[in-house]
Amino acid sequence: MITFCLLHIDQHSDSWDVAYIGQVQQQIANGERAKAEDVDNNISVFNNFGTKKFPQAIIIGVKKGGTRALLEFLRIHPDVRAVGAEPHFFDRFYEKGLEWYRNLMPRTLDGQITMEKTPSYFVTKEAPRRVFAMSRQTKLIVVVRDPVTRAVSDYTQTLSKNPGLPTFQNLVFKNSSRGLIDTSWSAVRIGIYAKHLENWLQFFPLSRLLFVSGERLVTDPAGEMGRVQDFLGLKRVITDKHFYFNQTKGFPCLKKPEGSSRQRCLGKSKGRPHPHISPEVLLRLRDFYRPFNLKFYQMTGQDFGWD
Ligand code: A3P
Repeated sequence: MITFCLLHIDQHSDSWDVAYIGQVQQQIANGERAKAEDVDNNISVFNNFGTKKFPQAIIIGVKKGGTRALLEFLRIHPDVRAVGAEPHFFDRFYEKGLEWYRNLMPRTLDGQITMEKTPSYFVTKEAPRRVFAMSRQTKLIVVVRDPVTRAVSDYTQTLSKNPGLPTFQNLVFKNSSRGLIDTSWSAVRIGIYAKHLENWLQFFPLSRLLFVSGERLVTDPAGEMGRVQDFLGLKRVITDKHFYFNQTKGFPCLKKPEGSSRQRCLGKSKGRPHPHISPEVLLRLRDFYRPFNLKFYQMTGQDFGWD
């Protein structure tokens, strides 16, 4: 008898409720029967076919780059099985051990790829060594976005959880009169992509990494998904015909599968309006990032067009 179990992911937060996952796994172990439904935006179907494997590919970053969109788009592919929530194994839960991690993975059949996404891996010093220790063959995907917009997006997310937060301008400068950028603020630090990439290149050759443009993922999702599928060695199944531009949301959404009324756009926390930030502040931040961006273009051999 096939046992299905549903794992609901809170789309308003990318944090993983580990306790809940444990509970779901326990239900699977106990053979409890739950309602079976299609894989959807916020639902994973776990069944008891196949085996749990370490991920062969991980979306390692970057926070607010468009990582949820990429994962949800990839999950349309029949040869991709992914954990919906973020395991945070290589940064927060490493001491739990590799078997704990593998046990979180969905079962896959031969030829299917196991995946997960945890955007904080990209900026975690120990993560490259730890992923390498699991498998040096791991394919790594980084969704990058203009670091200035990314910083504002990051700030917007924090502000939504903490409305009393100081202004962006207050946080971005060490000393606003001299205009020095505060690189200890994580919203700024994460966007220094060249610096974080250096850590990964100590362990992985560039050919193991794919850099997805967060901007093109919005303007040309099918084109960007073509690159991703090629990198993963997958047949190009995800194409133009899977996407439509939702005018209300202002973002591409997935077309509904026939006969389903399920919402196929990402949740409210994805594609939020950003607060107004003065152009001078943004310009100063853009100047700050320029040399790091150029270094990043040089390292990756790709011009992302942020400058
Ligand atoms: P904003 O909310 O600032 O617009 P992540 O999933 O890594 O947290 O990234 C969130 C960002 O994904 C959003 O940031 C949004 O711009 C971007 N994004 C890319 N494609 C999207 C899509 N199809 N729907 C919603 N957001 C998308």
